[in-house]
Amino acid sequence: MRRFLIDTDTASDDAVAILMALRHPDIRVEALTVVAGNVGLDQAVQNARYTTELCGADVQVYAGAAAPMMRALQTAQDVHGNDGMGDCGLDLTGRAPTPGRGVDVIVDTILDSPGEITLVTLGPMTNVAIAVMRAPEIVGAVDRVVVMGGTGVHGPGNISAMAEFNFWADPEAAQVVVRSGLPLELVGWDISITSAVVDDQRRATMEAIDTAYSRFAIDIARVVREFAIGHGLDGDDLPDPIAMTHAIDPSRSETTRLNVDVMVGDGPQRGVMNVDQIGITGRVPNIDIVTHIPSDHFFEMLFEALRD
Ligand code: RIB
Ligand code: CA
Repeated sequence: MRRFLIDTDTASDDAVAILMALRHPDIRVEALTVVAGNVGLDQAVQNARYTTELCGADVQVYAGAAAPMMRALQTAQDVHGNDGMGDCGLDLTGRAPTPGRGVDVIVDTILDSPGEITLVTLGPMTNVAIAVMRAPEIVGAVDRVVVMGGTGVHGPGNISAMAEFNFWADPEAAQVVVRSGLPLELVGWDISITSAVVDDQRRATMEAIDTAYSRFAIDIARVVREFAIGHGLDGDDLPDPIAMTHAIDPSRSETTRLNVDVMVGDGPQRGVMNVDQIGITGRVPNIDIVTHIPSDHFFEMLFEALRD
């Protein structure tokens, strides 16, 4: 069994990614730690707990940071809906997080099992940045850190011309993390829009699966599907699920190791990846950037997770 710890700002695509991990026979999800991002912290906790309950998984959900490290929270409810889950009428109230701090859970889970934990991050990097500042020794103790974030080598951005939301929402945290020495594997939004778009044919396949899981995945993507199609895609894209696919089975991923930094501030550079593609800066390559995942590989894994 491989042991995953998932940090999430639980909106619709996060929920599908969490479902993929919870329902995979070879993966044990140690806990979910929640961060504010797509929606506020409490809503993200509700959405995460709803997802674990749907999957019948006895997995603890811990609250983490309610805001970015050095700026006000800016959510993305125009993308995923006010509740982050497609505003499709789910009862997303009344659930409480497990007592404890998400940042402490990240540190303790990794240090208690050196070399055994894969940390998968699906939201802004606030919890991970605070964790690595509090306990730098997690750098040498964690096995893998798979990050849905950034725009890959060439972009584009999805919240500004050149920035992806998770890095843009808390750019200072993203900069701390990319500079930390953590063994990062970045799955950017470029991979999502090239290999994880639920076009009409793939949506029809999801509908034909016709399980509580497939109906859930379709229903919660209602708002983001309209948003994505309105921005020129052939359907809703699934950035967190394809990042989870890389975490679960990286055998079909293509990667390149380059030096990556993240720009901060409040101008057009906010959250933009500064990628040294030809080693011109002399900075040491520090991050594995995923450059391709075959779409059939992703959708086979997604559809399998949605079947009973
Ligand atoms: O840019 C895509 C990322 O931002 C995904 O993780 C999505 O859930 C949002 O958090
Ligand atoms: Ca997310």
